[in-house]
Parts: sequence; structure tokens; C-alpha cells
Amino acid sequence: MRKRLTITNMKKMKQERNAISVLTAYDYPSAKLAEEAGIDVILVGDSLGNVVLGYDTTIPVTIDDIVYHTRAVARGAQQTFIVADMPFMTYGIGRESTLRNAARIMQEGGAQAVKLEGGADMASDVAALVKAGIPVMGHIGLTPQSVHQLGGYKVQGKLDEEAERLINDAKALEQAGAFSIVLELVTESLAALISKELSIPVIGIGAGRYCDGQVLVYHDILQYSSPYFEKKFVKTYADIGTTIRNAIHTYVEEVKSAAFPSEQHVFSAPPAAVQSLYGGGSNNADKDNDVQADTAARGVHRS
Ligand code: KIV
Repeated sequence: MRKRLTITNMKKMKQERNAISVLTAYDYPSAKLAEEAGIDVILVGDSLGNVVLGYDTTIPVTIDDIVYHTRAVARGAQQTFIVADMPFMTYGIGRESTLRNAARIMQEGGAQAVKLEGGADMASDVAALVKAGIPVMGHIGLTPQSVHQLGGYKVQGKLDEEAERLINDAKALEQAGAFSIVLELVTESLAALISKELSIPVIGIGAGRYCDGQVLVYHDILQYSSPYFEKKFVKTYADIGTTIRNAIHTYVEEVKSAAFPSEQHVFSAPPAAVQSLYGGGSNNADKDNDVQADTAARGVHRS
């Protein structure tokens, strides 16, 4: 059994140019499969809101949602480093509530670290969390919780002043004690520069080839009914959405045609036992006949 990574291991991976693989997961089976497949880090992202809960944005996701889903992920991936997102407005609104919300994610959810969006503006929150013993992953570039402020899901850092601000944000997060940052939807050249400038791992999503690791969303790479799978930065590795839809369609057809259940799926018992199941007594034969008549009426024939 492999050992869970630590934040020290991750820093060493950066130094040794050993790329860090990160994937989101939101429940027990997705976490278990990701761990079995050898993922380095699982992120319980607030993309939960989009791909699992059916919201348009991550904004409605609550701290209770994240704690609940993180707990399931922690049960499924007991040897994997788990980072969980702090949802919209659960940080940056007062030191005490930031600490309390992060504590819930760690204590009740079982995560090893939290992630929050924002750069220099969030540095003091990051420093307070780190001081309290909570590892923090930063998140800059396209920050989905600010989608309305940013005016949509657009590539960030194309203009010089934007790029400069992002470099300063990355440095501020590193100085505040973040152990890693996510860099989302920025130009490849800017991501390469930030990755080179920082000593902590930079995990890219839509940030090109030169980051220290990559993160993608579980439902995107598997085409699991995700709204995102056509995005340029996503590579899909399987189409389980189609597989699941076809399988359920076949099940529906087989139930309707009585092809399922077939003989291999049923339990049989000696006639006496069947009689006792129907309560014994003088009218058992009638009840058996009723069951057979009902079965025949539904078009289900068993020998
Ligand atoms: O919520 C999420 O899944 C994320 C990743 C896209 C980095 O923040």
C-alpha cells in the first residue's frame, strides 16, 4: 500500500521535476477509483456545484456541501492527500469564521488541506490558516467564484498589467505560506514564468505544459455528463457518459420486455417453503394460483 503524500514530498517533486497529478473527486467511488489509479492528490473542488449538484456556477456551494462530500472522499481514498475547496464567502469575511470553516473541512471532512481563491488580498487569511496549522493551496488566474466580477470564463493574464498582478499574487501567496497554488486559465508563457519564480508547486488547469503539475475535473476527463468536456484545455480519457446511458437504456428495455430478471437472477425454493412464505393454511393453493396468474398477466414466464 502506498503512503499518502505530504506537502514536503510535493515540494521535492517540484525540485525533481516529478509532475504532480491532481484530479477532483466528490464521492466514495470516484475517490476510490482515483486512488487505485495512482493519483497524487484529490481535490474536492467546489466544481461539485457544476458537475454534481447541477448549478450554473460554484457560488451556491455551501460549507456543509463541501464537508459532506469531503467525508465521502476521505472514506474512499485513505492513502491520498486530499485538498478541499473553501466555498464562496466562507473565507475573507473575518478571521474567526475563516478559521472555523477551514477547521470543519479538516475535522469533519477529513481533508489534509484547504484551497481558497484569491491572491494578495487573501494573503493575510492564508497566513492565519497556516499559523493555525492548516495547509493552504492558493488559486489564482480564472477564479470561478468571481466569475461575475471577471465577466465570464475568460483566459487571464493576456495583458501586461494583468500578468504583473498575477505574478505578484502568486508571490504573495507563497510568502503567506501557501504550500502550492492552482493557476487556472492563463497563457502558457505566464504560467511557465510563475512556475519558475515560485519554490512551491504550481498546479495548472488550462495553463499549459510548464507547470509543476496538472489538475482536471473528474467528470470532464471521463465525459461523465459534464457541461465542460468541449473546452480546449480538457482532454477526455473515456466516455463513460455514453456507456452509462446505453447501459441504463438496455436495462429499461429488458425490464419492459421481461428479459430481466432471467433464470440466473432468481432464487428458488422447495414448494413447501414457498407455501410457508405465503402463510400456510387451506387457501395456499389459491394464493399460488394468484401469483402465477399475476405473473402471466405481466407477460413474465418462468418454468
Ligand atoms: O473546483 C475545482 O474543481 C477547482 C479546479 C478546477 C482547480 O478549483
